[in-house]
Amino acid sequence: MIKKCLFPAAGYGTRFLPATKSMPKEMMPVVNKPLIEYGVEEAINAGMDGMCIVTGRGKHSLMDHFDKNYELEHQISGTNKEELLEDVRELIDSAHFTYIRQREMKGLGHAILTGRELVGDEPFAVVLADDLCVNEEQGVLAQMVALYKQFRCSIVAVEEVPDNETHKYGVISGEMIKDDLYRVDNMVEKPEPGTAPSNLAIIGRYILTPDIFELIEQTEPGKGGEIQITDALLKQAQSGCVLAYKFKGKRFDCGSVEGYIEATNHCYENIYLKDKKSSELAKKVTGKK
Ligand code: UTP
Repeated sequence: MIKKCLFPAAGYGTRFLPATKSMPKEMMPVVNKPLIEYGVEEAINAGMDGMCIVTGRGKHSLMDHFDKNYELEHQISGTNKEELLEDVRELIDSAHFTYIRQREMKGLGHAILTGRELVGDEPFAVVLADDLCVNEEQGVLAQMVALYKQFRCSIVAVEEVPDNETHKYGVISGEMIKDDLYRVDNMVEKPEPGTAPSNLAIIGRYILTPDIFELIEQTEPGKGGEIQITDALLKQAQSGCVLAYKFKGKRFDCGSVEGYIEATNHCYENIYLKDKKSSELAKKVTGKK
């Protein structure tokens, strides 16, 4: 039902300089996989197959990552290293990837509007790959798609943050309509300390209905002189309906050094080591070398 996922990935990643001077933030590895690959996996698990990536200058490696590398594949063909590429090969085969460049970094709202050409006139998901989300049972996007099927309106994922951190996020307030689900009545981008309408902060997962594009077009630059998706979503909430969903799972802010280290430790222990053990076990059972 929701087939496309938009990845705004044109930002400069200044919080992670100098690492992001010539490397896209989205290509930073968490253990042995780049951030964007975790996002694409989450979208595929939620039933999507169109990955629409908004890139910018110096982001070629994003495109190369989701393409064949004949020289490398030839080099490792027939060796036990081949299996290290298995996951990404499978990923490339199960989705199609399209790209568009955002020429000027005018904010997240503007990046989403730039993706309109790729998305067309249908509801779509948005993933900010530097927010890494993990949940053992059902991924965050899959949880949101299930809600979209029921409510058919834009949905933002939110999480409770401490009061002294609300100024880093878009913050919502609204009426709780059922467990963990709110109908948004207000939204403020990066509120001044002490003025946030609640401590429910928007994280990097959205489902948007396509009328959002026109609302973004009508949105003037807001906080930081950028075109903010939060401002367009507030208009949508006031004229129709936007839901905020307190998702199940854990989210790591990999745009910050602390969040990135936490994500790395978590993924190493809970994903990488477990996968390694199960593939070793599978080899023992099958006798495969
Ligand atoms: P951020 O503000 O978190 O990312 O934007 P940033 O600008 O890359 O990082 P810092 O703050 O300088 O460290 C949220 C998301 O929106 C994308 C970014 O790539 C990121 O995924 N974005 C932001 C764009 O694609 N274009 C923009 O003009 C702004």
